[in-house]
Amino acid sequence: MNEPIESTIPSLPEAGFVVIFGGSGDLAKRKLLPALARLRTEGLLPKEFAILSVGRSPLTDETFRSRAGRASQAILENLHYCQADYTPEGARVVDARMKEIAAERGLPLNALFYLSVPPDTFQPIIASLSEAGLVKEHCNGRGWSRVIIEKPFGRDLASARKLNADILPHLTEHQIYRIDHYLGKEGVQNLLVFRFANPIFEPIWSARHIDNIQITAAETLGVEGRGGYYETAGVLRDMIQNHLMQVLCLTCMEPPASLSPDDVRNEKVKVLKALRPLVLSGEDSDVVRGQYGPGRVEEQEVPGYRDEPDVPETSTTETFAALRCHIDNFRWAGVPIYLRSGKRMGHKGTQITINFKEGAKILFNALPGVVPPRNRIIFHIQPEEGILLELGTKRPGQSIRIERTAMDFAYREAFEHDSPEAYERLLLDAWRGDATLFVRSDEAELSWKYLQPVIEKWSTTSGKSKIPLYPAGTDGPEAAEGLLARDGREWVDFVQST
Ligand SMILES: NC(=O)c1ccc[n+]([C@@H]2O[C@H](COP(=O)([O-])OP(=O)(O)OC[C@H]3O[C@@H](n4cnc5c(N)ncnc54)[C@H](OP(=O)(O)O)[C@@H]3O)[C@@H](O)[C@H]2O)c1
Repeated sequence: MNEPIESTIPSLPEAGFVVIFGGSGDLAKRKLLPALARLRTEGLLPKEFAILSVGRSPLTDETFRSRAGRASQAILENLHYCQADYTPEGARVVDARMKEIAAERGLPLNALFYLSVPPDTFQPIIASLSEAGLVKEHCNGRGWSRVIIEKPFGRDLASARKLNADILPHLTEHQIYRIDHYLGKEGVQNLLVFRFANPIFEPIWSARHIDNIQITAAETLGVEGRGGYYETAGVLRDMIQNHLMQVLCLTCMEPPASLSPDDVRNEKVKVLKALRPLVLSGEDSDVVRGQYGPGRVEEQEVPGYRDEPDVPETSTTETFAALRCHIDNFRWAGVPIYLRSGKRMGHKGTQITINFKEGAKILFNALPGVVPPRNRIIFHIQPEEGILLELGTKRPGQSIRIERTAMDFAYREAFEHDSPEAYERLLLDAWRGDATLFVRSDEAELSWKYLQPVIEKWSTTSGKSKIPLYPAGTDGPEAAEGLLARDGREWVDFVQST
């Protein structure tokens, strides 16, 4: 049995409301309501609370409950529905309904608003809530109020800046919770514990010992009928600007002064500020893109991206991207950080690989025929969570032969409980007022700023010939191999913990 060395038992959130705009939608049904139900089953929610779904659809509490699905059984009696649009009048309707429910259930008017609606409605909803007085904290009988904003937070630097500028007159930064569900994943949170709770790693976590870092998020799925949406996004916006840049920050940031939200986020911001601008063309280009063509994935023939519904035949939207990043600070000078993400790839999963430098050619490594092994640490984030430490080991026998072996730690074997879903952790944190795992305005803008030149360059090319195709079921376009081959390196295959 694993005894915790030190644990912080989360305090129960205060009684109040979770108000979900777009509660009738896909995300609420598949993720948010089931996450709240599991939190309740685990005894992590207060005794009294209400979940109020707000939408334009004409539903009643009963019809909404009947649509919520089996995964939400544990919170059925806490579910309410309020038909309202996203205008200030709509917000007043929500206000009246909250007061009614508060009186019935004896609830304080604490409110966690969750914007699970299309991004162009974020600003009008916040402005309406503000005008109707719903986000003003601790006045007119109200308690605290916080707003969770779904991704995408903008679609480029200008729109992210505009969204921040539009919402900040209505909310203070401490009320805004920009969600990136990768930060709620157990494996991502463990990066910080691994780095900062195990002192043996800190002295080797730098350019002195690390040769390169690779962060891969690969999917075997295609666009799954969401071609219309994907045409407005592409993998750079959908995966890299948010999830992979966040993982890069957590992997490379300095130890924070404390675990407070601002101390942690300040360190992430310093990493983003130290990123060297990407070279976009020529022999030393840092960026590669590609789009999947027809191919075979998991024994099935699949169509190419341009044959997907709602995708134009001439689309140049990237379904794969790879970047070579550099952080120009003392810790990471000269260490490339390679990011790649794609759809319809040969493997599925997210992994971070820390590749250490080759050992000096002395002692065992100087023996004839011995190739000094490179040590590696691989963090598996999904689908299974685990950590692999690769070492050179003597093969049993009379002669010295060194082979690569792995110390393999799999979460599911080491711990009795399944890891909580990312949305459980993030909903609970926001409800408790802990913004550590949420993205601050400057982080969102700096990440967009770094990628903006790539977005602009890729958006100015058009026509079929401008984007390399890769067959579905492979590791992306050839140029992605070239990006590392030029540096005398190669991508580390996807390795799953056993
Ligand atoms: N689904 C996912 O897996 C996923 C993953 C990551 C992020 N997100 C983000 O989460 C948010 C919600 O996603 P979703 O998939 O649940 O969206 P959705 O099903 O398309 O929409 C959610 C709700 O928003 C309302 N709505 C839809 N279109 C609207 C419009 N044009 N104007 C005003 N209201 C509209 C609808 O409620 P009423 O008609 O009742 O008002 C709908 O039920 C989005 O910002 C999305 O980008 C979703």
